Amino acid sequence: MKLLILNGPNLHRLGRREPSIYGSDTMDIILQRLQAAYPEVELRYAQSNSEGALIDHLYDACDGGVQGVVFNAGAYTHTSVALHDAIRGCELPVVEVHLSNVHTREPFRHKSLIAPACLGVVAGFGADSYRLAVEALLHHLAK
Ligand code: DQA
Repeated sequence: MKLLILNGPNLHRLGRREPSIYGSDTMDIILQRLQAAYPEVELRYAQSNSEGALIDHLYDACDGGVQGVVFNAGAYTHTSVALHDAIRGCELPVVEVHLSNVHTREPFRHKSLIAPACLGVVAGFGADSYRLAVEALLHHLAK
């Protein structure tokens, strides 16, 4: 089983970026914990600050035998029709993830343009959002 963890803009700064909102764990630590929790799963990781590269990662995942994607699209969640289309186009189950509970924050974060193309959404559980999303994907893929 191969899953892709995909992070969008500004998430390379996790651990240092607004820790009161996003926590103090770096993505390296989050990935290490995830891999330890799911040793049987091959977890791949990619991050980009640019929309086009994220689209390429989604299609590369589907062409490269990845079975599902955990996707934190960062701010592009709220703006990107192109990412919505790529999620539909790659035909993989994608779980939208957010560390913060976007619905308790600024109104511009309440709308997700990618959610209608995703299997489901996990938001508000900090670093644990990634683990919960992997868990949901594995349940879905085992059906
Ligand atoms: C985020 C929430 C987004 O609104 C924000 O732009 C991010 C991070 C989260 O994980 O909580 O970059 O996706």
